[in-house]
Amino acid sequence: MNTKMEARNCMFNAVAVITWCFMLKVGVSDPGINMLSQGCSTYNVSSLSNFNSNLNKTFGLVRTDLMNSSKHFATEQSLSGSDSVYAMFQCRDYMSEADCIACFSAASAQIRNCSGANGARVVYDGCFLRYERTDFYGETTRDANREYCGNQTTSSPDTTFNTTVASLLGDLQVATPRINGFFAASKREVAGSNLSVYAIAQCVQTIDMAGCQACMEVAYKNVQKCPPNADGRALDSGCFMRYSDKPFFADNQTINLLPFLKTESSSSSKKGAIIGGAAGGAALVLIIVGLFVWFKLSKKLKASPRGNILDATELRGATIYSYKDLKSATKNFKEANKLGEGGFGDVYKVK
Ligand SMILES: *[C@@H]1O[C@H](CO)[C@@H](O)[C@H](O)[C@H]1NC(C)=O
Ligand SMILES: *[C@@H]1O[C@H](CO)[C@@H](O)[C@H](O)[C@H]1NC(C)=O
Ligand SMILES: *[C@@H]1O[C@H](CO)[C@@H](O)[C@H](O)[C@H]1NC(C)=O
Ligand SMILES: *[C@@H]1O[C@H](CO)[C@@H](O)[C@H](O)[C@H]1NC(C)=O
Ligand SMILES: *[C@@H]1O[C@H](CO)[C@@H](O)[C@H](O)[C@H]1NC(C)=O
Ligand SMILES: *[C@@H]1O[C@H](CO)[C@@H](O)[C@H](O)[C@H]1NC(C)=O
Ligand SMILES: *[C@@H]1O[C@H](CO)[C@@H](O)[C@H](O)[C@H]1NC(C)=O
Ligand SMILES: *[C@@H]1O[C@H](CO)[C@@H](O)[C@H](O)[C@H]1NC(C)=O
Repeated sequence: MNTKMEARNCMFNAVAVITWCFMLKVGVSDPGINMLSQGCSTYNVSSLSNFNSNLNKTFGLVRTDLMNSSKHFATEQSLSGSDSVYAMFQCRDYMSEADCIACFSAASAQIRNCSGANGARVVYDGCFLRYERTDFYGETTRDANREYCGNQTTSSPDTTFNTTVASLLGDLQVATPRINGFFAASKREVAGSNLSVYAIAQCVQTIDMAGCQACMEVAYKNVQKCPPNADGRALDSGCFMRYSDKPFFADNQTINLLPFLKTESSSSSKKGAIIGGAAGGAALVLIIVGLFVWFKLSKKLKASPRGNILDATELRGATIYSYKDLKSATKNFKEANKLGEGGFGDVYKVK
């Protein structure tokens, strides 16, 4: 059964890659259907015909959601006892509406190959689709979280690439749960080379901020295993992270992360104020003046328009705080990280 599964997966891969290459050759914009993972539940539905019509109905609703309001995220369900279907679909926000729908078409065709399985998922670079018999919308890190590393090493000559990846993903980890829509794309130059790191982070919109944070913790830890590979991804049920030394989104799709990292620096300033108070009134006054200046300055920065040069410069200053905080946060979440590992394996055959 395992070898049969593997043969099937091989075939999935071949089809995906051929389709992808074909699309690239023809010059269609990139719908991101480079498949990363597929999983089929080992349990079958009770009645295939009921289930298939429910599945079709649900996928139809998802497609309508995507087309009518150019959404990048949709959940739909069709409830009928043992053949109920809960479906979730998400595109990365940098995808155009057309590419997003193309990715959905590929995913909804691909997922049929799980036949009568009562749950399945397929994950591409550009999107993912998952369905279950029961409500899974609140899942964060329960599934088989893992990293997918590219197989080529970056041309950046030293460890600066690693540290740039770590600081950029660290900032994304902190910022993304605080961003409305739970998506962020950003770019950072690798000092001493002409390379940049491009990265995104995304959570599903059916979890809350704390859930997104918990998922980001795990994803960050996983994707950190990839450098010095030129690209890497982290997959989980509630979130996705990806970095590359080549652009996979447009420069004007990046956002300024600084406003979303601010809470970190202000809490550090508070710590500073407490120490200052103990040391003496004079120091306290200095800190208050400092805070005032910082406040004025940050207001100014907030008012400034989005721009990549500005973005990159600002972020360099912000990195130190958030990265330090992140390290201690990772320690605190160690137990949660552990809980996140391997849940998918019981019920699923995963590529
Ligand atoms: C589920 O159905 C498929 C075909 O529809 C079959 O190949 C597979 O063995 C079934 N699995 C179980 C656990 O019954
Ligand atoms: C569901 O859709 C698939 C593919 O689009 C089709 O082959 C199948 O006949 C449909 N099944 C039902 C019950 O509507
Ligand atoms: C989607 O758009 C079509 C045609 O524009 C319309 O008939 C349909 O009711 C819309 N569906 C939703 C859910 O808004
Ligand atoms: C599903 O698998 C069948 C063979 O089992 C294959 O012919 C078909 O192309 C596959 N469909 C997709 C979308 O990969
Ligand atoms: C590296 O990945 C590419 C496609 O991403 C593939 O064609 C190639 O065979 C892989 N090389 C190795 C050594 O795995
Ligand atoms: C950082 O990069 C160097 C060489 O580029 C590599 O040997 C090392 O394993 C990397 N370290 C980490 C923690 O990724
Ligand atoms: C920039 O990188 C390219 C290869 O990616 C290399 O050919 C070129 O010499 C580099 N330029 C500088 C100034 O390092
Ligand atoms: C972003 O840049 C692309 C070209 O790279 C351009 O086609 C597009 O209109 C720009 N979008 C915005 C919102 O400026």
